[in-house]
Amino acid sequence: MADSFPFIPYQREILSDEEMITKSNAFYSYMDKRRSVRHFSDRPIPMEVIHKIILTASSAPSGAHKQPWTFCVVSDPTIKKAIRKAAEEEEYTSYNGRMSEEWLKDLAPLGTDWQKPFLETAPYLIILFRKSYDLEDGVKKKNYYVNESVGIAAGFLIAAIHHAGLVTLTHTPSPMNFLQKILNRPDNERPFLLLPVGYPTADAEVPDLERKDLSEVTVFY
Ligand SMILES: Cc1cc2nc3c(=O)[nH]c(=O)nc-3n(C[C@H](O)[C@H](O)[C@H](O)COP(=O)(O)O)c2cc1C
Repeated sequence: MADSFPFIPYQREILSDEEMITKSNAFYSYMDKRRSVRHFSDRPIPMEVIHKIILTASSAPSGAHKQPWTFCVVSDPTIKKAIRKAAEEEEYTSYNGRMSEEWLKDLAPLGTDWQKPFLETAPYLIILFRKSYDLEDGVKKKNYYVNESVGIAAGFLIAAIHHAGLVTLTHTPSPMNFLQKILNRPDNERPFLLLPVGYPTADAEVPDLERKDLSEVTVFY
């Protein structure tokens, strides 16, 4: 049976240990500069870049190669306005009673509140939807490890945005089902993350956070 499916040779350049160390160091330094930014300029960015960062995200591994995701790209000001309004309504309720004291305390260093002006200012909003199942000619097709797969694709997307010299914010207005309605998505899709994409404002600031070091996040056996 396996013989009936085509395989192709997998070839990659083999690096020396030294090159590998240099490259992994450089990549770590580059990725460690990524920050979540909450102040966006309205400066336009080329659509070609949006295409390529989405293709990068969509190259992520996925359970049984189902690629169970849809990337909705919003630049229409009317839709952005509707998304901002609905997100701020949810966030207002969250910040004024729905979030626990502990949650609000954990968020305090980030300086966030219910207001989300970047949802209108950023040139593009990418809303990532998870597809709990696929529909082929009205027939339900199973997807596997959907959360894990879409989470990995989101990581690729965030890395690609950073690599393009742009910034984003991993935004999760909660609950997010208003996105399904505004964007008119089918029943098998559920909103996963909302990512504004653009340039930071010239005076953008980010919280002075520290990241855990290797020994805090790793166990070697
Ligand atoms: C799943 C997830 C959800 C998040 N949701 C929000 C959010 O709704 N609003 C927000 O301002 N930041 C949100 N963030 C961003 C985090 O606050 C941020 O990643 C964290 O503070 C670390 O900062 P850094 O991304 O600059 O390293 C979220 C991040 C993740 C991974």
